[in-house]
Amino acid sequence: MMASLPAGAPAPDSAPEFDFVLFGATGDLARRKLLPALFDAHAAGSLHPRGRILALGSQPLTHDAYLAMLDEEVLPALSGHAAAAAWQGFVERILYLQVDANANAGFDALAELVNARAAAVVVFYLATAPHLFVTVCEQLARVGLTGQRSRIVLEKPLGHDLASSEAINAEVARHFSEDQIYRIDHYLGKESVQNLMAVRFGNVLFEPLWRREWVRQVQITIAEELGVERRGNFYDGIGALRDMVQNHLLQLLCMVAMEPPTSLSEDAIRDEKLKILKALRPIRPEDVAEKVVRGQYARGAAGGDPVPGYASEPGIAPDSRTETFVAIRAEIANWRWAGVPFYLRTGKRMQSRVAEIVIHFHDVPYPLFPHPLGVMSGNRLVITLQPQESIRLYFLTKQPGDTQALIPASLDLQLTSAAPRVRRVGAYERLLLDVIRGRLGLFVRRDEQVQAWRWVAPILQTWEHSPTPPKPYTAGTWGPAASSALLSRDGMAWHEEM
Ligand code: BG6
Repeated sequence: MMASLPAGAPAPDSAPEFDFVLFGATGDLARRKLLPALFDAHAAGSLHPRGRILALGSQPLTHDAYLAMLDEEVLPALSGHAAAAAWQGFVERILYLQVDANANAGFDALAELVNARAAAVVVFYLATAPHLFVTVCEQLARVGLTGQRSRIVLEKPLGHDLASSEAINAEVARHFSEDQIYRIDHYLGKESVQNLMAVRFGNVLFEPLWRREWVRQVQITIAEELGVERRGNFYDGIGALRDMVQNHLLQLLCMVAMEPPTSLSEDAIRDEKLKILKALRPIRPEDVAEKVVRGQYARGAAGGDPVPGYASEPGIAPDSRTETFVAIRAEIANWRWAGVPFYLRTGKRMQSRVAEIVIHFHDVPYPLFPHPLGVMSGNRLVITLQPQESIRLYFLTKQPGDTQALIPASLDLQLTSAAPRVRRVGAYERLLLDVIRGRLGLFVRRDEQVQAWRWVAPILQTWEHSPTPPKPYTAGTWGPAASSALLSRDGMAWHEEM
């Protein structure tokens, strides 16, 4: 049943022997993201042959029933990844254990299993409701599993505001030191986000232009076509600001705006990100209405089919005021970025699934050439994270033939065609391997998290007391009209409206 390769079997480079202890193993995140990511790492040969996955859930399932559930719900989604033979080898790594966070027995059994292999790295992944984090940590401490070979991964959202997130952080810190704590933000594991760092800091070309003198505006969008799906109970009362802005969008903003770090060491990068979070100009309660748009999807269409509005989705209160869309005009108060608007936007049930960062450079000072679209330069760097990863530089070039007119052209900076056979490593796969290898650089430090909560706090508080509900938008569109107005007031437009 368990992986039982002979002692001394060769380990893949730098991948230590491990026990991956997955709390919440029957949940949505485990089935949709974590197990597929571990499977990909397994199929690619990136996991130590004796690495085990201890799948923990509160449901009274037998080990075989759990595997049958994975066969039914995880395997079909993996088609096209690797052969069924790899799946067989993968499930041999897994052992299901029923563990109730409030009862000792399951943790005693877990400790016995884990302690039988004193040399292995132990990763605890808390893919559970945040209110269980503290109890789980206490239990792990009680059974002596919090020592130096242990690492703990915390999923977002950690708490629902600054105070509750700090309460959890303080409790976790009683049992684990900061270098054992991996606060995951899977957007940091996406290839294009890392390539953004490479493009910025591996070339001399961009750095001189990467500032207020040359950048007119920055847009960061994470649009989803899906609605709230089966996560209504979780999502209602949380909303897009806590679910996406406090973490993913602000982390992307940091990656765009930070100063060059002094090295690639984990703290050098995290120190620079923290400086940006601290430099974000606070949005005062009286400015929320002007600088922040909140929306909630109404009945509409997705993929050509009619879909219900948010308030009619399962698990959602009919009078819910939870936002499924947010757009924000942010500013960074430092010498590099003063006066440059950073427009952030995220929403569910939008027209299409796209995640992108767009750096708009200034127009040329004077239009020398005729341009059919009437644009003066159109220089943009577009980093697309989804649906396909790419980094493109847009500029104008001469239209071939007997003319002086310009036409838009673009350069692909991701060079996907230069390495067509290199396997793409998914965000979760990359980050889980980093945890097993003990690399903290792509995880969020406590002070970053605190600062991000601090910045969204006035927005949350203002909404809580506001008599105005979120603005409705038709499912399958780009959000409320107020979102376009947020930019048009500055004479700008969202990338897809240009
Ligand atoms: C998660 C949010 O962090 O990110 C979800 O909780 C959201 O609501 C998801 O759907 C989006 O991730 P991705 O990688 O599919 O864009």
